[in-house]
Amino acid sequence: MAAIADDEPLTVTELALFQARGCALVFADRMDEPVAYLLLERLDGNAHVEQLSVHPSHARQGLGSSLLDAAEEWARAEGLEWLTLTTFREVPWNAPYYRRLGFQELAGHELDDGLRGILEWEAMVGLDRWPRVAMRRRVG
Ligand SMILES: CC(C)(COP(=O)(O)OP(=O)(O)OC[C@H]1O[C@@H](n2cnc3c(N)ncnc32)[C@H](O)[C@@H]1OP(=O)(O)O)[C@@H](O)C(=O)NCCC(=O)NCCS
Repeated sequence: MAAIADDEPLTVTELALFQARGCALVFADRMDEPVAYLLLERLDGNAHVEQLSVHPSHARQGLGSSLLDAAEEWARAEGLEWLTLTTFREVPWNAPYYRRLGFQELAGHELDDGLRGILEWEAMVGLDRWPRVAMRRRVG
């Protein structure tokens, strides 16, 4: 999956748009350097996780799951019912990881227009060379 690994991150301008809306959640280390972040947006009346990334130097310390919990907190404050995302079905730290954290796979007929549109766009840009899936977790 070199094409995915080599994919450019979002630009600072794009990230600033999430920040300005209060939809960029960031973990910083002791030097105030960002080591993990999660980007959110409203989609289909839910909170959609657009991106979740943890720097390998800080992997497997619970930062990813904490950021998802913080995203859920945001969604609760906004009165939104579900946390949604799209991810790779077979990559161990993607769908299986989210499943362990309480996310469930959505069948085709359960997709709202926004999520369906994202999966269609992902297919258009070739991401579906590896199976993609939409998932959701109820905001508790
Ligand atoms: C997926 C990701 C956000 C997880 O973040 P994290 O802070 O390391 O995850 P947590 O500490 O919350 O959970 C750790 C669990 O994630 C899974 N996991 C993390 N890295 C893994 C790896 N390299 N291989 C297999 N499982 C992995 C395991 O279940 C692990 O539990 P374990 O350590 O008990 O085996 C992080 O690996 C990442 O940024 N990956 C690259 C970007 C990406 O795939 N983002 C998600 C796209 S939708």
